[in-house]
Amino acid sequence: MNTTSVSVEELKAMAAAAAVALVQPGMVVGLGFGSTAAYATRLIGERLRQGELYDIVGVPCAEGTALLARDVGIPLTTLDEVNTVDLTIDGADEVDPHLALIKGGGGALLREKMVAQASSRVAIIVDESKLSPALGSRFALPVEIVDFGQRATARWLEAQGGTVRLRLRADGQPFRTDQGHLILDWACGPIADPAALAERLAARAGIVEHGLFIGLATDLFVAGATGVRHVAASDCGTMTR
Ligand code: A5P
Repeated sequence: MNTTSVSVEELKAMAAAAAVALVQPGMVVGLGFGSTAAYATRLIGERLRQGELYDIVGVPCAEGTALLARDVGIPLTTLDEVNTVDLTIDGADEVDPHLALIKGGGGALLREKMVAQASSRVAIIVDESKLSPALGSRFALPVEIVDFGQRATARWLEAQGGTVRLRLRADGQPFRTDQGHLILDWACGPIADPAALAERLAARAGIVEHGLFIGLATDLFVAGATGVRHVAASDCGTMTR
């Protein structure tokens, strides 16, 4: 491969293709949200159209994903209708060496985490710019909150360090998740102990969900200029399930 001519979009498509190779006929597939996951969704649709895949049913992690999946011809179901999801393919905003993630750049963290927790296998697809020595070094942590006491929640986060911004849409109005909640983007800096922080955030009333995904990714596909690297969480010794 010519290492100088690979665009980020090509890298996303490469990572997606590597993960989609895991999809087998008959599977329930979790369909993630974001620009990288969209490559996977489109490719699954293409393989269905070509007859390489059949009997697939998708569980979309976001309303936007459901729209795309319908558009490319993937039959859909909901988390309520299935016992388990065989394989979820999703992107991430930041990935640490233990395959812990920051997600939620697209605002779909709650549904993404619910689908990931219901999945036997979770394949994360990223270009190599998403790799990070410590979560929080490169990306603000998305925190989904309720409206009530939103400024108090923001102050509580800032009291622990860093700065908090209410996520806004392009028109200046507050961004709303698929559940109608707000998002605080917390630039907290490198997180020394993601598991401890995840527990603290989960215990705080007013916080609906946070973007730390720990022990959920089973497989990572990282696309770089020289190709796609597969990392199994079991090889990192960090799987918790
Ligand atoms: C969506 O809420 C996120 O968790 C995405 O998976 C994440 O933001 C990665 O998105 P991109 O693939 O667009 O970078």
